[in-house]
Amino acid sequence: MPTHALATLPDGIDSVHAAALPLAGIAALRLLRAAGSLAGLRVLLTGASGGVGHYVTELAVAGGAELTAVTATPARGERLAELGAVVVHDLASVQGPFDVVLESTGGSALSLALATVRPGGLLIWFGQAGRSPVTLDFFDLLGGPERVTIQHFHYAGAPYGDDLAALVRLVERDRLHPEIGRVADWSRAPETLVDLRERRIRGKAVLTTGSGRWATGG
Ligand SMILES: NC(=O)c1ccc[n+]([C@@H]2O[C@H](COP(=O)([O-])OP(=O)(O)OC[C@H]3O[C@@H](n4cnc5c(N)ncnc54)[C@H](OP(=O)(O)O)[C@@H]3O)[C@@H](O)[C@H]2O)c1
Repeated sequence: MPTHALATLPDGIDSVHAAALPLAGIAALRLLRAAGSLAGLRVLLTGASGGVGHYVTELAVAGGAELTAVTATPARGERLAELGAVVVHDLASVQGPFDVVLESTGGSALSLALATVRPGGLLIWFGQAGRSPVTLDFFDLLGGPERVTIQHFHYAGAPYGDDLAALVRLVERDRLHPEIGRVADWSRAPETLVDLRERRIRGKAVLTTGSGRWATGG
């Protein structure tokens, strides 16, 4: 393990919460940096009930964004509403305009989301949770908002340690709360993966091994 990918874990954070942080937490942190200051801005987030979505919501709301979160059902958006998001369930009827749209479900969602961006606004595409490639007819842009920037985002890039430490610090100070929809023994990996895929787990799943001292994020 390269030392640039390590952070110190204080006693107050258990390994289950720590395991929920790295990929989704770093992706959320870096995604928000890519979006720039969101203070006072209207933000739309698709796929919001997942691991990344809960982190993005809590951090963006803390940064002053007025965030609208798209989830499949009210139950999947319950925690997001507690974190301060306006929760909606039908992307096609979402009322814009939004200054920034963060899209991660793919398929036709990107075009629908694009129509809600304000002229000159920003759409960042970072995932395809629906497992269908993005479809986008550029002629649709002619009837939509003008001068929108469409940006691709990928979280990867060493070093990771500083961002991991920042996430740990936020959790320690009670400013970031990993949403963990399931904690299960490692032997339940297959059903947990199916449940994640079938959208039956909110936020992160954490699988533990042995005594539970070691855990891995799902
Ligand atoms: N670009 C990057 O650097 C980066 C980094 C990390 C993750 N990602 C990507 O970002 C996306 C979100 O990551 P995540 O870890 O938060 O994933 P996740 O926990 O699986 O959450 C994905 C969310 O997308 C929604 N969704 C909509 N249509 C779906 C479908 N057909 N099947 C499954 N989920 C669907 C689900 O919410 P509802 O059920 O409420 O609709 C689900 O909560 C994924 O596509 C992931 O690959 C990208």
